[in-house]
Amino acid sequence: MGGRVEGKVAFITGAARGQGRSHAVRLAQEGADIIALDVCAPISSNTVIPPATPDDLAETADLIKGLDRRIVTAQVDVRDFDALKAAVTSGVEHLGRLDVIVANAGIGNGGATLDKTSEADWQDMIDVNLSGVWKTVKAGVPHLISGGSGGSIILTSSVGGLKAYPHTGHYIAAKHGVVGLMRSFALELGQHFIRVNSVHPTNVNTPLFMNSGTMKLFRPDLENPGPDDMAVAAQLMHVLPIGWVEPEDISNAVLFLASDESRYVTGLPLTVDAGSMLK
Ligand SMILES: NC(=O)c1ccc[n+]([C@@H]2O[C@H](COP(=O)([O-])OP(=O)(O)OC[C@H]3O[C@@H](n4cnc5c(N)ncnc54)[C@H](O)[C@@H]3O)[C@@H](O)[C@H]2O)c1
Repeated sequence: MGGRVEGKVAFITGAARGQGRSHAVRLAQEGADIIALDVCAPISSNTVIPPATPDDLAETADLIKGLDRRIVTAQVDVRDFDALKAAVTSGVEHLGRLDVIVANAGIGNGGATLDKTSEADWQDMIDVNLSGVWKTVKAGVPHLISGGSGGSIILTSSVGGLKAYPHTGHYIAAKHGVVGLMRSFALELGQHFIRVNSVHPTNVNTPLFMNSGTMKLFRPDLENPGPDDMAVAAQLMHVLPIGWVEPEDISNAVLFLASDESRYVTGLPLTVDAGSMLK
C-alpha cells in the first residue's frame, strides 16, 4: 500500500533536530524523500539553547535512510538566500522533483519585555524567524512552479503567531508576520495549484522550549526550576490538561497539509495547541 505522500519530495529547514527532524521522519514514513537543511551552528544572540550540530543533521539522515527513503542534507543558514537556493537546486537535481516546502527553522532568544529587548536579539529574531521563512519559500517555489503539478507549502508559526505572550514580543511579531507571509503566498501561488498553510504549535518538547531559560520564565519564583515545576504553570495555558505536546503531534498536522488529503486547503492557520486559543 502506498504512503500518504508516496513519491513526493519535501524540502525542510531546521531538520537537524526537534520538529524539523520529526517532520522529515514522519513524511519519510509515508513515502517522501527529503531535502534537509540546518545551520548546525549557534545563532549569536541565542545564549541559552544549545545549538544543533552537524552530528544531529547526520542522525536525521540516518533515520531517513533507515526508512529506505532518500535524503540530501546541507548545512545552510536560512538568512543566506544564495546558499538556500543552491542547496535546494542541488537537492532537486538529486531527487528529481519538489512537491513540499516546510519552512520550520527558527530560534528563541532574549526573554525581555519589548522595551528592554536588545537590537541584536530583535534583528536575529526577524532575520531568522520571518525573513528566513520568506527566503526559504522564495528559494523553493521556482521548483514547485516548474514541476507543473502544484505543491504544498507549510510555514511554522506558533500560537504566538495568533496571540501575544509576555517577554517575547520580538518572537510574537515575527510569528505574526509568518501568517502574513502565508496568506500572501497563498494568494499569489494558488493559480499554480500550490497551497500555502501555517501550523501553530503550542509548547513543544524540543530544546527550543525545554531549556533553563524557559523554565525560569515559567517559574520565576523558583531558584532552579525543572520540567515538573514548569509543567504546573504551562498546563494553565491549555484547555487539555497538559503542559506541552510532542514533535510528532505537529508532524501529523504537517503530514496532512503535505498530502493530497488537504488538496483544497489553503490559507489556513492550523493550530495544534491543546486549546490554548480558547483562553
Ligand atoms: N518548541 C516550541 O515550543 C515551539 C512552539 C511553537 C513554535 N515553534 C517553532 O517550531 C520551529 C522548530 O523549532 P523546534 O521546537 O524544533 O526547536 P529546535 O531548536 O529543536 O529546532 C530548531 C532548528 O532550527 C535550526 N535553525 C535555527 N536557526 C537556523 C537558521 N538560521 N538556519 C537554518 N537552521 C536554523 C536549528 O539549528 C535547529 O536544528 C521553530 O520555528 C519554532 O519557532 C516551537
